[in-house]
Amino acid sequence: MDRLLVKGGRPLSGEISISGAKNAALPVLAATLLTDEAMVIGNVPYLHDITTTTELLARMGSRITLHEQMRLEVDNSTLQHMYAPYELVRTMRASILVLGPLLARYGRAEVSLPGGCAIGPRPVDLHLRGLRAMGAEIEVENGYIKARARRLRAAELNLELVTVTGTENLMMAATLAQGTTVLNNAAREPEVIDLADCLNAMGARIDGAGGDRIVVQGVDSLHGIRHDIIPDRIEAGTYLVGATMTGGRILLRNICANLMQSVLAKLREAGAEILTRENNLELDMRGRKPRAVNVHTAPFPGFPTDMQAQFTALNSIAEGTGAITEQVFENRFMHIQELLRMGANLRLEGNTAISRGVPALLGAPVMATDLRASASLVLAGLVAHGETQINRIYHIDRGYETIEEKLSLLGARIQRIFGETPGTRSRRRNIA
Ligand code: EPU
Repeated sequence: MDRLLVKGGRPLSGEISISGAKNAALPVLAATLLTDEAMVIGNVPYLHDITTTTELLARMGSRITLHEQMRLEVDNSTLQHMYAPYELVRTMRASILVLGPLLARYGRAEVSLPGGCAIGPRPVDLHLRGLRAMGAEIEVENGYIKARARRLRAAELNLELVTVTGTENLMMAATLAQGTTVLNNAAREPEVIDLADCLNAMGARIDGAGGDRIVVQGVDSLHGIRHDIIPDRIEAGTYLVGATMTGGRILLRNICANLMQSVLAKLREAGAEILTRENNLELDMRGRKPRAVNVHTAPFPGFPTDMQAQFTALNSIAEGTGAITEQVFENRFMHIQELLRMGANLRLEGNTAISRGVPALLGAPVMATDLRASASLVLAGLVAHGETQINRIYHIDRGYETIEEKLSLLGARIQRIFGETPGTRSRRRNIA
């Protein structure tokens, strides 16, 4: 298994480009199932979760061509198996996103039920309830969701909780349903808007994405288009936290600052000077230490849960006391134990992590438990004295494109140790 070695102590400095958003690319790839015509998707990030999705589509019978600069062409005219097996779904919960499109387009789907995961139980009951209200017959048997429908019919759906992939699944299903579907209490995340833009370009009739009431007028068919994925606001936020923690100065290209206002506000509160231009953003800490901030995670436009772990790392070395409250997931504080091993002064009270910043963290071997927790440990490593070894980094590879290369470009001392197999020596890359 690969590991990352980080030697702390250098401020991040320089420029990098932000990749396309994982959480926008995954639903758009699922949306390709809604048409027989070829779709071309640009600005796709090169990530494990994307490979898992293309493998899933390929097993169903899609023909996928990779063009230069991660432009994917997906042709679903030869789809044969409306089936998402456990072995793929278990590694990537977002596979549930194929359920709505398969049911809408082919009238049947068999998708493994995602299990719990490191950040909480994460049920999909709201996805299923919505599809049932649209006329689908759904049974859960032997760990699989088995769904059938003639043609889905419109419904007024009141989502009990704000769910991102739930909104996306139901919105995709509604595009081909008979009549006009209303989604109340819909997720307002930019990734939902990107998906709606893609679907509308394919011929769907969706109004209100970005608000909490989405109206979808069903159409008979959708057609192929080219769509470019929006920039990854969480990847961008992660590097900005890194620069803030290390007292650095960085420029990010290919970002959309409008999608990150809640995170930028907290970084400014921590002491960062931020300048936004058209597709660029510059952050300067002028060598200062950050101040601790208080954060409550919430659905968009609130502070994203996907940035919570990174801000917990920031608070652990900041001046003063900070409180970080997680309100979206039940159990998203697995990084705390690892940060404690690096010398952080953190304690968990219910769903709030309270920190008193320490002058310095100390490098240690730590273990990544989920994607964003792993990112927080890399950030902690950037400011720690000595060497931090982050194990199980396959979590990071799910959602950060070549993190060690981008951080090296920013002057960090980071290297990947490729997993050893018996009889071979580990290989090191990006020794900085
Ligand atoms: N929930 C239910 N029932 C449902 C659906 C959700 O109880 O049927 C609950 C969840 O357990 C959670 C809350 O509702 O407590 C919100 O979950 P949501 O459904 O919004 O999460 P998700 O769609 O599974 C997406 C992102 C996550 C991100 C969350 C919240 C994708 C592929 N994943 O997950 O991204 O944390 O929204 O913003 O879009 C990540 O990238 O690291 C990541 C975990």
